[in-house]
Amino acid sequence: MSEFLTLARIDAVVQAVKERTDYQPSVGMILGSGLGPLAESIANADKIPYPNLPGWPVSTVQGHTGQLVIGELEGKQVLVMQGRSHFYEGYDMPLVGLPVRVMQRMGVEVLIVTNAAGAVNPDFEPGDLMLLTDHLNLIGMAGNNPLRGPNLEEFGPRFPDMSQVYDHELLDLARDVAVENGITLQEGVYVCLAGPSFETPADLRFLRAVGVDAVGMSTVPEATVAHHGGTRVMGVSGISNKANLDGNTVTTHEEVLEAGQVIVPKLTSLVRGVLKAL
Ligand code: HPA
Repeated sequence: MSEFLTLARIDAVVQAVKERTDYQPSVGMILGSGLGPLAESIANADKIPYPNLPGWPVSTVQGHTGQLVIGELEGKQVLVMQGRSHFYEGYDMPLVGLPVRVMQRMGVEVLIVTNAAGAVNPDFEPGDLMLLTDHLNLIGMAGNNPLRGPNLEEFGPRFPDMSQVYDHELLDLARDVAVENGITLQEGVYVCLAGPSFETPADLRFLRAVGVDAVGMSTVPEATVAHHGGTRVMGVSGISNKANLDGNTVTTHEEVLEAGQVIVPKLTSLVRGVLKAL
């Protein structure tokens, strides 16, 4: 039996956050594997470890600190998730979306969601950033959409449009900031798989054939919930490894975390630039 969210459950978390911070964030951020250090540049932050939040899906993966960092960055009040939870950790999809619901109830209007991803597009290299122009909701298509269950009318409609999940104005803003800062920015379609096993070469050839540029195990549930609730979304993948379409290279979580060190400075400049311009 799946666990569905209720407004009361969401608001219990909102209450717990509000008891620990006076900030009123308008921007939310989710930092993926190895990308947590971006939160270190936030001034005068209030930090709330996930276990202090009732019913919060605690991240169990190495490379995910597991706390909210709330403070100011480039003059904007931000609520940052330093680490996230994933479907493969055993959480039901609606629960993976809980943090975004909490952000929405707190007044967050823009969500910047990041992840570490494997390059399916052969033109991408480890260390590249990829702006998400769209996603393939493969797990959702197969029955695990985070919006499954009773619709929460307070947030959005039963059958939400998904023709433009990634906000066009934010995409343009990110492109401008990248040019100004000399950051090479790839663009493409991200797919979220259930994981936790990495893909077989046949999986990857299938994904390439259906138009995927980067593959990971996150982001799509959060972006779907964000868009359902009217939050403007920008998504960025840090390309950590080349996907193994020919079966002659090995993918490890260590290389994903290592690539984060190259990606974080670029991602930090991009995010700061976008925040400044918002
Ligand atoms: N596959 C799936 N998820 C990932 C990968 C990958 O190659 N790299 C980082 N996250």
